Amino acid sequence: MEQQIAFSVNEQPRSVATDPARPLLDVLREDLDLTGTKYGCGEGRCGACTVLIDGRAEHACLVPVGDVAGKSVTTIEGLNRDDKLHPVQEAFLAEDALQCGYCTPGMIMGVVGLLNENRQPSEAEIQTAMEGHLCRCCGYPRISQAVNRAVAAASEE
Ligand code: FES
Repeated sequence: MEQQIAFSVNEQPRSVATDPARPLLDVLREDLDLTGTKYGCGEGRCGACTVLIDGRAEHACLVPVGDVAGKSVTTIEGLNRDDKLHPVQEAFLAEDALQCGYCTPGMIMGVVGLLNENRQPSEAEIQTAMEGHLCRCCGYPRISQAVNRAVAAASEE
């Protein structure tokens, strides 16, 4: 049964009338036209759908939209400020860390979520945070360089 569900998306109040069991991913892409968040596997195994919920990286394919009522969701479209890319986006650009780019928004949101929780993650913590992010082009060496660059920049802030 439909319910009105209000939450914040990229710092804007949004409200959708929908089944609260629908995945947040579907609502973002189909109802709110935020297509930067990608559908990959639909079962929490690829990371393509990663968004921030109250600052934490989560798989939007696994989160029922009813669970984000009253919460703050950030998608890749909400990362830049004053027409400037987020430092993690800058790091991916500087390292040319994408091929087809399909996994890139999820990868970037995963790194932002990691740095929100820990400004100086260890190599093991970085690996744990990123191991659920799959790149179908296997561009992992440059992705790894970009993540390390973003972490180094964050630790200098
Ligand atoms: Fe959500 Fe793959 S689409 S983890």
